[in-house]
Parts: sequence; structure tokens; C-alpha cells
Amino acid sequence: MLLADACFGCEGVTLSLGGRRILENISLHVDRGELLGLIGPNGAGKTSLFEVLSGRYHQQLGSVYLEGKKLDRLDIFQRSRLGVARTYQSPVVPTALTIGETLRAARKAYKPYMSAHDAEWAARLVRLEASWDRPSGSLDTFDRRKLLLACLMMRRPQVLLMDEPASGLINTEIAELDLLLRKLADEYHLAIILIEHRLELLGAIADRVCVLDLGSVIAEGAPEDVFRDERVQAAYFGAVA
Ligand SMILES: Nc1ncnc2c1ncn2[C@@H]1O[C@H](COP(=O)(O)OP(=O)(O)OP(=O)(O)O)[C@@H](O)[C@H]1O
Ligand SMILES: [Mg+2]
Repeated sequence: MLLADACFGCEGVTLSLGGRRILENISLHVDRGELLGLIGPNGAGKTSLFEVLSGRYHQQLGSVYLEGKKLDRLDIFQRSRLGVARTYQSPVVPTALTIGETLRAARKAYKPYMSAHDAEWAARLVRLEASWDRPSGSLDTFDRRKLLLACLMMRRPQVLLMDEPASGLINTEIAELDLLLRKLADEYHLAIILIEHRLELLGAIADRVCVLDLGSVIAEGAPEDVFRDERVQAAYFGAVA
């Protein structure tokens, strides 16, 4: 597929930090309504790739695209306004604010301001059921992740980059998260890239999987094929059959 036809992705991205090569010639894409799993051992470069895709880091080579347009000159705020949303490995919420105040701050983070109705819709969408009077800092990990996702979803992004959203969740919460992510892809046509360590979790919900190791893509395709790939087995389990 030509990247220009895909909703979002990158081509030939190479990133060095502090004189060290972190990402090497990475190309990947995700379409509307598609959930791409991004896996790889610790330190493979998954989060660094999100930093490049979201515009926090600027790569030395290659380009990031949204709907066929290059985003390379845009910073993280400009990309966010165009509909590239991301979450972080740690769900850091503003502890001094209540849920309601946090959502309100997100509504007014930049123009156009979102309405109270948009915030209510987003909170319902992610099934954030805690009272809006509660301090955000009193929420458990799952509710913190839901709150942060509601802050993003109220602006109806096109692309969602999620960095290990299942981390710190118990199995019933992971099952709820899986359903929500599939719903965001299937019903709201988001292009989702999901970083996850657990292969079995991605096998259940990802349309395709891309595997990073030592800063390079070593496999990409349907989950069942990728998990059988001997380079993937070696990267995860340390031995090639
Ligand atoms: N700001 C930085 N400066 C220098 N090196 C960095 C920086 N950020 C990340 N790295 C290095 O880049 C490599 C990739 O890190 P990254 O956090 O992207 O991996 P990851 O695949 O997300 O790992 P994990 O699964 O542990 O979250 C690591 O070796 C890390 O030490
Ligand atoms: Mg990471």
C-alpha cells in the first residue's frame, strides 16, 4: 500500500538521541478503523517511535504522514490539533483537580473549546463512572486511564497512539479496555496504534501487528503469522529454532 493512501504512518524514520541510534529506517501505517499492535522487548524503541509520531521528538531521517500530508514540521500541539492523540505509559493526572475540573481544563485547553456536552459524551464513551466531584488523584489506574482518554476523545481525534494502556490493570479491566479499543476502531473509525507487551492480548484484538527489536521492524502482519515468526521468537525468548 502507498502510505499516501493510509490514514497515518511513517516512512524511513531514523532517530538518534545523544549520539545513539534509537530507531532505524522505520516504516509503518495504520488505516481508519484499524488497530495496529506494536510490540517488542524492553528498550526496542516503541515509546521513542511514539515520540516521533506525536511530534515530541524530531527524527533525523524519514517522514510522518497524516492523510497523505507530511507532519514533520509540526510540533506535538499542532499534530494534536490535527487529530493525532496519544497516551503515555504512566497515567499522570492533575491530582489537585477533580474529574470535572480536569475535563473542563481539557475542554478549554485550546480553541475551538469543547462543550460540556462533549465532555459528558467522552466520559460516557470510556465508561468513566466515578463522581465528577472526586479528585482525579484519588482514582485507581484504570479510572485515571479512562479520564485521560476521555480528555482526548472529546476532540474526536483521527489517530490514537496508546502506550501500554493495559499496564497496571487487572484481567477484568483489560477485557473492558479491549472492548473499548475495538469499539473506537470499529464504530468511531479511529486509526489506533497500541503498544502492548502481552502477545496474547494483541492476538485477540489487533488487526495487524508490527514487531520492533533494537530499533528496527523485524516482522509485520497478521498476529498469528507474526507470533510464529522465528525472529520474533528469538527477540522474545532469546533463541532461534
Ligand atoms: N531521551 C533519550 N535519550 C537517550 N536515549 C534514550 C532516550 N529515550 C529513550 N532512550 C533509549 O532508547 C531505547 C529505546 O527506548 P524506548 O523507551 O523507546 O523503548 P520501549 O520499547 O518503549 O521500551 P519499554 O518496553 O521498556 O517501554 C532505550 O535503549 C532507551 O534507553
Ligand atoms: Mg516504552
